[in-house]
Amino acid sequence: MRERVSQKSLRFTESVIREMTRLCTAHGGVNLSQGFPDFPAPEVIKAEAARAVMADINQYAITWGAKRLRDALVAKQQRFTGVSYDPEREVAVCCGSTECMAATMMAIVDPGDEVIIFEPYYENYGPDAILSGATPRFVRLREPDWHYDASELEAAFTDRTRAIVVNTPNNPTGKVFSRAELEHIARLCQKWDVLCITDEIYEHILYDGLEHVGMATLDGMRERTITLSGLSKTWSLTGWRIGWCLAPPDICNAIRKVHDFLTVGAPAPLQEAAALALEMPQEYYRKLADDYAARRAVLVPALEACGFKPFAPKGAYYVMTDLSGFGFSDDVTFAQWLVREVGVAGVPGSSFYSDPASGRQRLRFHFARRRETLDAAIERLQTIPARLRAGQTH
Ligand SMILES: Cc1ncc(COP(=O)(O)O)c(C=O)c1O
Repeated sequence: MRERVSQKSLRFTESVIREMTRLCTAHGGVNLSQGFPDFPAPEVIKAEAARAVMADINQYAITWGAKRLRDALVAKQQRFTGVSYDPEREVAVCCGSTECMAATMMAIVDPGDEVIIFEPYYENYGPDAILSGATPRFVRLREPDWHYDASELEAAFTDRTRAIVVNTPNNPTGKVFSRAELEHIARLCQKWDVLCITDEIYEHILYDGLEHVGMATLDGMRERTITLSGLSKTWSLTGWRIGWCLAPPDICNAIRKVHDFLTVGAPAPLQEAAALALEMPQEYYRKLADDYAARRAVLVPALEACGFKPFAPKGAYYVMTDLSGFGFSDDVTFAQWLVREVGVAGVPGSSFYSDPASGRQRLRFHFARRRETLDAAIERLQTIPARLRAGQTH
């Protein structure tokens, strides 16, 4: 029989991260795999969403975003970065930053164009590149500090390069790109006339006094940068599916068109509440980062005590670990054993690499969890050494 599905769809698998969540539910485990909080979202924002529903803001919003939200977005961006955007021409609100990335790639890439992606990478970037027809060129972030090799990056830029994807703070590594690294990337973008798509969804979750540097704030970059972010992480609202792109008018216009024909628009009442979220005082962001730092301080040493070798993150809410001390052949076998026997779900490291072999001894956990959830996970993880001593490895 003729193949009934597209070649494109055959080139990527179902999301490993979402699959781990399903497996975790089936085994009644503690889920430290898919990155979403198990604590409540801020009351005032929820109340505003409920008000908007009751006020009957229930029909299509303007395709590229409700006016109130676009105005709030540019005001917040100005307040935090000093960069100004035109809410009428330079903002596109989409269904999560996931759609922002897919719509952006489709808007700027032609088949055969190359897109540079640092790896390990957030798993959606691979399929996004395939769906848009881009050829991904991967540049390695190297352990233990996840630096990249300057000459390797320089060699990845060619006449065919259309864009580079930068994700800072980074999922899955917790890397925060330094200003010097971003300036280096910016120089290469300008030299090769390349666009930068910067996924800044963790822009407010940084540790150890580090500061977030937005690519668009660097000299000469505002005009060639598409900045993506959204409600999911900073406001603990992953299920609302609200994200946004800030980009120069020609690019924004193309993104808006793609977005229109993909989804028409993001949920109207939730956009009203998103506008309110963006007006939260400085204190909100400080507390967010402090609370995550406290969770990091609980999970990272506990993982080490159980036999993992964690790479302590500098930002975002993930911790990549080295599991080579446990003697398992690969990460998928280990992750399945961990969720089935120990009752904790993480994400196999191979799902973050173009060549799965590179992540065979890596597992990622996240810590967007209440203290009691983390304690329950740790209690289970502490049983690992005894299980291994007893020879239980499958
Ligand atoms: C780097 C990165 N970008 C985007 C997303 C998805 O964001 P959204 O919920 O806005 O689609 C995630 C979620 O884990 C992420 O880690």
